[in-house]
Amino acid sequence: MSELSERTKGLPSEECSSSESVFVGYRQELVRNRKTKYNVNGRDIVIFYHNGNFHAMDQRCYHAGGPLEKGDIEDISGRWCIICPYHKQKITLDTGEGLHFSIDPKNLKKPPKLCSKGAVQRIHQVQVKEDKVFVTLSSTTQYIPSDFYYSKKIEKD
Ligand code: FES
Repeated sequence: MSELSERTKGLPSEECSSSESVFVGYRQELVRNRKTKYNVNGRDIVIFYHNGNFHAMDQRCYHAGGPLEKGDIEDISGRWCIICPYHKQKITLDTGEGLHFSIDPKNLKKPPKLCSKGAVQRIHQVQVKEDKVFVTLSSTTQYIPSDFYYSKKIEKD
């Protein structure tokens, strides 16, 4: 079962534009919650604390907009992935890559091979300063599939 904490505006934050770091919570609280949904400058993100590290990414799954904060984190061949609760897509926490197992249709006896679709989910930078955690939104201009859910108004959970 996933733990979830949803945070919205109202916490102290630094004056921000899209490329500035925004205070998203106190370290202890984010560690305890493990998965924290937060809105940074109008963009819904999710902050994970897993295996001693923080990770932040777009909250809506690139595949069909699933709420990633409701997924489970699993070790997929040595890579920590959030498993989307909707259709079980695997997204690496550190790079936002989509992983999948591929079979060789000409040799079905061959074990499935783990493959990467490349970056599918936009990853954001997390900084911990003393007891506070900050997120800076990714400024990469390259289109990443999860951007689709931030380019139009979508219905919220
Ligand atoms: S919406 Fe995430 S796997 Fe389909």
